[in-house]
Amino acid sequence: MKFFIDTADLTEIRSLTSSGLLDGVTTNPSLVAKSGRDFKEVIADICAVVPGPVSAEVAGTEYDQIMAEARVLRKIADNVCIKVPLTPDGLRACRHLREDGTMVNVTLCFSPAQAILAAKSRASFISPFVGRVDDIGWDGMQLISDIVEIYDNYEFETEVLVASIRHPGHLIEAAKMGAHVATLPPAVLRSLFNHPLTEKGLAAFLADWAKTGQSII
Ligand code: E4P
Repeated sequence: MKFFIDTADLTEIRSLTSSGLLDGVTTNPSLVAKSGRDFKEVIADICAVVPGPVSAEVAGTEYDQIMAEARVLRKIADNVCIKVPLTPDGLRACRHLREDGTMVNVTLCFSPAQAILAAKSRASFISPFVGRVDDIGWDGMQLISDIVEIYDNYEFETEVLVASIRHPGHLIEAAKMGAHVATLPPAVLRSLFNHPLTEKGLAAFLADWAKTGQSII
């Protein structure tokens, strides 16, 4: 399973890159606004730090505007992945961008039917938003299960990129279902390390080690 990080905060990205766990980055207009940075500059900086796909979302909603923005964004770096909304114009742009090998992440997916449309438009990634589905009282993980099953049935090449993850449980369920990618908020990624027995066990080992009076180096 690939791990992407869902942020435009370069400090967080740099710090987590050193863990060796990151395979890519997703951003969206809300995350860019939160960073307070110039969009194209922050995407260029992220692309220089992370070798994997870096999703940069278009702001246009009509085909011509989406294509014009995509042409600007993909010049920033080879690992820019153009993020388009799951709309008729977004999917039309997706199909055309894929023709020359541009990576495309189709975002704002909330149903299996939408995911089928994205796969048929040759999206590189489909981003179903599990947390936002849970927020309205539906089952976000059922959406992932349905999409993974459908994509397997037809051997679609589109990768399932689980988005809007709110806690480790989302990630674990997605991994059990065989989703290809999870994009994690930095705090969720860091929380994966935590277990009370690890902390307790380490404290006990260190205390016992101190009693030996030895040093390894
Ligand atoms: C994915 O690409 C989106 O940026 C993101 O996962 C949205 O998450 P949110 O629902 O927490 O805003």
